[in-house]
Amino acid sequence: MKKIISTILLIMAAVLPMNAASHEVPLIQNARAYEGMSLNGDWNYIVDVQEEGYYDYRMNPTRWGFFVNAKPQKPEDLIEYDFDKSPTMRIPSDWNTQDEKLFFYEGTVWFKKSFQAVPMDDYITLLYFGAVNYDSRVWVNGKETGHHIGGFTPFNYDISDLLKEGENVIIVKVDNKRHAEDVPTQIFDWWNYGGITRDVMLVKVPKVYMEDYSLQLSKKEDGGRRKEISFSVKLNKKEAGHKVTVSIPELKLEKTFTTDANGTIDSQFSLLNSQLKKLQLWCPENPKLYQVQISLDTSTFADEIGFRTIETHDKQILLNGKPIFLKGISIHNEKPNGGGRANTAEDARTLLSWAKELGCNFVRLAHYPHHEEMVREAEKMGILVWSEIPVYWTIAWKNPKTYDNAQRQLTDMIARDHNRANVIIWSIANETPHSAERDAFLGKLAKYARSLDNTRLISMAMEVTGASNYVNRLNDNMNEYVDVVSFNQYIGWYRDVNDAPKMTWEIPYNKPVIISEFGGGAKYGYHGAKNQRWTEEFQENLYIENLAMLDKIEGLSGTTPWILKDFRSPRRVLPGIQDYYNMKGLVSDKGEKKKAFYILKQWYDTK
Ligand code: GCU
Repeated sequence: MKKIISTILLIMAAVLPMNAASHEVPLIQNARAYEGMSLNGDWNYIVDVQEEGYYDYRMNPTRWGFFVNAKPQKPEDLIEYDFDKSPTMRIPSDWNTQDEKLFFYEGTVWFKKSFQAVPMDDYITLLYFGAVNYDSRVWVNGKETGHHIGGFTPFNYDISDLLKEGENVIIVKVDNKRHAEDVPTQIFDWWNYGGITRDVMLVKVPKVYMEDYSLQLSKKEDGGRRKEISFSVKLNKKEAGHKVTVSIPELKLEKTFTTDANGTIDSQFSLLNSQLKKLQLWCPENPKLYQVQISLDTSTFADEIGFRTIETHDKQILLNGKPIFLKGISIHNEKPNGGGRANTAEDARTLLSWAKELGCNFVRLAHYPHHEEMVREAEKMGILVWSEIPVYWTIAWKNPKTYDNAQRQLTDMIARDHNRANVIIWSIANETPHSAERDAFLGKLAKYARSLDNTRLISMAMEVTGASNYVNRLNDNMNEYVDVVSFNQYIGWYRDVNDAPKMTWEIPYNKPVIISEFGGGAKYGYHGAKNQRWTEEFQENLYIENLAMLDKIEGLSGTTPWILKDFRSPRRVLPGIQDYYNMKGLVSDKGEKKKAFYILKQWYDTK
């Protein structure tokens, strides 16, 4: 039997080369601005615990995997899978909240989607994924287009030469198993939601398109009032002579540029006084976004751009040259009411409106890049953003692959959101243990972040975990690489709340300070004495004591308490209280406000 099958499949082997060249191309900026086709909707899926669809029984990758989407041709043919007879799942989503059998599942799931298309000679078709957690392989019409790791950043493939007239088939193998060398590593305090968690779309672009562009107020000083705009472009081709026009009708601004031999433009241009008078800078009170038209040769697309500057001066953070206190809250990218990965504009508005009710002008999107709508909705709502990559706890600092993975996620986080005015801080890590390897890894990452974007602030969530004689000392070699010194502290939860009034802080760096986490757990509706853990009164008291303590910190420029909403975590197993939820939210998973919510709101009203 195996003999017969192997002859048939030998023939196919000739047709299907094993390691196809990747069709991956650099991430396109503002993919949503182009004509395209959403591939969201019902996808068939196959749960493949032992990766039968990818490896043979000798654990070698097989040519006859599920990516072939084979169908029996003759009655005796043996095909032991059939996507079209398999259940469907709505994409984008995680599988954990879509199929209760997969609630705890970590492993491989295959997805299949058919779509109609016509190959187009004058255009390129990009297959764009908003995010897939964690390790994904993609095939189009049986041809592998590429392999991507990292669960929270977008990637795209040029599939122009794989398309055929009529029905086309995409197959995606997704594996969310955890490994020590991954980013994040094996343990993390959030649910390891697996799947195609964000939008999937086909993007139609001209043969020569704008891979990336940047439009913002330049950093160059001019007597305190910024007069210059910096505009840069990178085409997908190194071609000179392409005309690019940027226009902002509301400012009566129109400028035309020509690409150089590298297919790039890098320009600064001054605003006329009339334009300067009109220019409204983006800020929380007035989140002004300008409609911008950008054309390349004969094609045009639009974007919404806000203009602002962000910098630090000694221990102050200056937005548009003025000191600002960042009234923040930390948030996980999780839907309310039962969890699951957040992935719509509506999810974003729900979470961000709770933050607004708290009096926030800032959110820490923890611990990984959130979906694009989260950042864009925050921009419309006047909420500043801290965006972070999941270099979380103790990752494999010595492993070069781990570094490349982290750097890749950093690159893609910045690539996707660098035109968003509300994004002010790139965070490269959270609660990482001190060591020479860690310092080397993070130092390199911080420098790299600055090389990609020197217009924003760099930070990371450091730790203050102990105090002798009530003196908390922040002593972290990474201080020299960051613009803002941020740290997590849990006085009142992992340390005694009664110590709070006695605490003093030694932060020997002339930089602004952000308390990137503090807080404690409470179950909504559970009431009792303020020293009774898990009661709303315990959490309320913890906030009262912490805020009074933090007010004494010199150079305090912001806080992002842990956390807006109770969120799912496999590390939180206390029955009747946690039940796989981290209960440190100021609102329950259903949005019910706990007493501490109002304590923080009151404090922010004073800021
Ligand atoms: C840590 C960590 C969070 C975690 C929190 C907690 O500081 O950064 O991811 O959820 O503590 O213990 O609740």
